[in-house]
Amino acid sequence: MSTVTAPMIRARKGGAKIRMTTAYDYPTARIADRAGADIILVGDSVANVVLGHDDTLAVDIAMMVHHTAAVARAEPRSLIVGDMPWMSFHVSPEDTVINAARLVRDGGASAVKIEGGRKRVSMIKAVVDAEIPVMGHLGLTPQSVKAMGGYRVQGKQAQAAYEMISDANALVDAGAFSIVLEGVPDRVAQVITAEVPVPTIGIGAGGGCDGQVLVIHDVLGLGGGDYLPKFVRPYANLADVAVEALERFFLDVETGAFPSAEETYHMADESFEILRGLAEGETVAEF
Ligand code: KIV
Repeated sequence: MSTVTAPMIRARKGGAKIRMTTAYDYPTARIADRAGADIILVGDSVANVVLGHDDTLAVDIAMMVHHTAAVARAEPRSLIVGDMPWMSFHVSPEDTVINAARLVRDGGASAVKIEGGRKRVSMIKAVVDAEIPVMGHLGLTPQSVKAMGGYRVQGKQAQAAYEMISDANALVDAGAFSIVLEGVPDRVAQVITAEVPVPTIGIGAGGGCDGQVLVIHDVLGLGGGDYLPKFVRPYANLADVAVEALERFFLDVETGAFPSAEETYHMADESFEILRGLAEGETVAEF
């Protein structure tokens, strides 16, 4: 059970920077929690970084519940936020509440994240009314990749940035406890951060937000591909470490250096003698 709560995150506005990363399973959740994450997002980026899809549209609510539950079994102290996937909050407020509740009841999340601005307000209000805290997400919202015509920085023009500020205010009015700002110019993120009373958490939004989030596979250098967005700073190259470890294992298999006697289960001499006798057709009275 998380000890960090949504109201605690809400109260961090303008205070100590919020530390957020993603996790998709038990081991990544344990790593994120041990490292001191305030928030673990079970992001729909699982579609890209774990399942190898080109976009996040590939995952549905059942898959997100499955991954959220794996994270929850790690019992992190971090707040677990379950990402609402594409088409889980687009049909009706009723449908949205049912899907959000699945992430909480079946997945063990303590909050959910919903992409989008004013268009999504009725859905966000319904979820907040059902006592489920909602994190908003504005800017380069990956679920809109087809509508945006690709992954493009949002809010570069004054009018678009102004619309985003209106979206941020609408999310606050709907009850969001925090807002992720993804892929927006730093100045726009700063204006929104100054404008709204809830914490903003940036990813590709400059240093002026109330917190930062990066995908855990990007931070650890565990990604499969070569492309990394400009805003990613890898702090390790675990993929290379992993390949090197496996190469050493395979070499030891080839040479017979693995397994050693210490890594092997043994049978007592007496039992082995009886076994040998049995194998050779001896009749053994008792064993
Ligand atoms: O799914 C995800 O990982 C996200 C973060 C990038 C904010 O939405």
